[in-house]
Amino acid sequence: MKLDVVIAPTLLAEDKLRGRLCAVVDVLRATSTITTALASGADAVYPCLSVEEAKRGADKHGRGSALLGGEERGQLIPGFDLGNSPLEYLAAEVVVGKDIFFYTTNGTGAIRRAYAACGCPIYIAALINMSAVSSVMVGAASAGRAEGIVILCSGRYGKPSAEDLFCAGLIVYQIFTGLREIGTVPLLLDGAGIALGFAAANRERSLDVLASSEHGRYLQSLGFAQDLEFASRLDSYEAVPIFDGDRVFLLNGDS
Ligand code: MLT
Repeated sequence: MKLDVVIAPTLLAEDKLRGRLCAVVDVLRATSTITTALASGADAVYPCLSVEEAKRGADKHGRGSALLGGEERGQLIPGFDLGNSPLEYLAAEVVVGKDIFFYTTNGTGAIRRAYAACGCPIYIAALINMSAVSSVMVGAASAGRAEGIVILCSGRYGKPSAEDLFCAGLIVYQIFTGLREIGTVPLLLDGAGIALGFAAANRERSLDVLASSEHGRYLQSLGFAQDLEFASRLDSYEAVPIFDGDRVFLLNGDS
């Protein structure tokens, strides 16, 4: 079984992903925020390709139970209820029972592209839920439901980002170890090897990796330093969000 990391969505080779299990990572901040929203009690998150698509979706759904969330250039979008800080999605009274129509610059597009490329449900991963996602992917792979596993990094404006590479490398380590324990030794492709090496070299420096990354520096300049701290905590949640081509919901209904 091949285990790979695609370090930016622009490198997605669509024809090669059919039949593979796939997780999308956007540590700063889309997949951290989606995981937090669902773990806090939101019903579902709809990843949108544009602000207009999100607004149309929320209007069609009925604004009573719908929220608009996300960002442009890291900031709250005019007319939206919530931005893209995971901290905004922590309060049960804000998100419980809500369907969130969500647009972000890189993350939501990467999720949609991954689904188009794989043609099967996509796992949503971040540092805050990486072990839970890894373990579910090992289970799915061992049940013989995949030709391989790929982790897609959302990156930044089509280019790689350190924080996503770091998270992908930690997930590769966990999946590799998990598969080996059940008697399958996966074949590490170079993307996975690069991510694994970067993660191993920085294993104890989670917050530093985020804080010194390009996007981390940008978010700090906007006043979002607390988001980095929140997103850098490993395994705060057992939640495993999954995108079925329409919406993201919790696979394990657990937080
Ligand atoms: C994105 O999808 O580009 C990010 O989540 C941006 C952000 O930090 O808000």
